[in-house]
Amino acid sequence: MDVARAIREKHAIRSFLPAPIPDPVVQEILRAGRRAQSAKNLQPWHFIAVRERAALESLSRTGKWAGHLAGAALGVVIATPDPAQKFTIAFDAGQAAACMQLAAWELGIGSCLASLYETGEVRRILAIPPEWHAHIAISFGYFDPKKQPPSGVLNPGRKKFDEIVHWETW
Ligand SMILES: Cc1cc2nc3c(=O)[nH]c(=O)nc-3n(C[C@H](O)[C@H](O)[C@H](O)COP(=O)(O)O)c2cc1C
Repeated sequence: MDVARAIREKHAIRSFLPAPIPDPVVQEILRAGRRAQSAKNLQPWHFIAVRERAALESLSRTGKWAGHLAGAALGVVIATPDPAQKFTIAFDAGQAAACMQLAAWELGIGSCLASLYETGEVRRILAIPPEWHAHIAISFGYFDPKKQPPSGVLNPGRKKFDEIVHWETW
């Protein structure tokens, strides 16, 4: 799949088939995150790959809209230094997430981000050291394209080009 098509067609997948993702495919997704660009190439991330159902279910209860993690074949939690320290940290985590999601899409695997609000609980479930922070997870799994709602469930579509693009000045 070419990049332009993947960018155009990828959309959030929140319900997954029960099929597991083979190990080499999981590795390929994680490697795409590892390749992501980051400010000063600091790579301020650790990726915690979670496949155990009980842990995925527990994580799914740590965010108001994180329920889709419970049915994912794979959850990847992105841990970073405190994102309040520097704006680039959350930005970098987002780049790693996008790389993993696009790589997965090409492999026929859907994904969706999950904002994690109960961060103390996330830390406890995954034994994350105190200096690392986890606010975002990604659900991954195979899916039935016929059973998926169209892109953008909560906020359908995209803003119009002329509404958001400015030329030379605002
Ligand atoms: C930073 C961030 C946090 C998000 N958190 C959640 C979430 O907690 N639960 C969820 O279901 N989707 C979450 N999403 C997915 C967005 O709702 C989704 O990408 C958006 O509605 C556009 O839809 P599309 O990806 O299908 O085009 C998040 C996306 C981003 C970028």
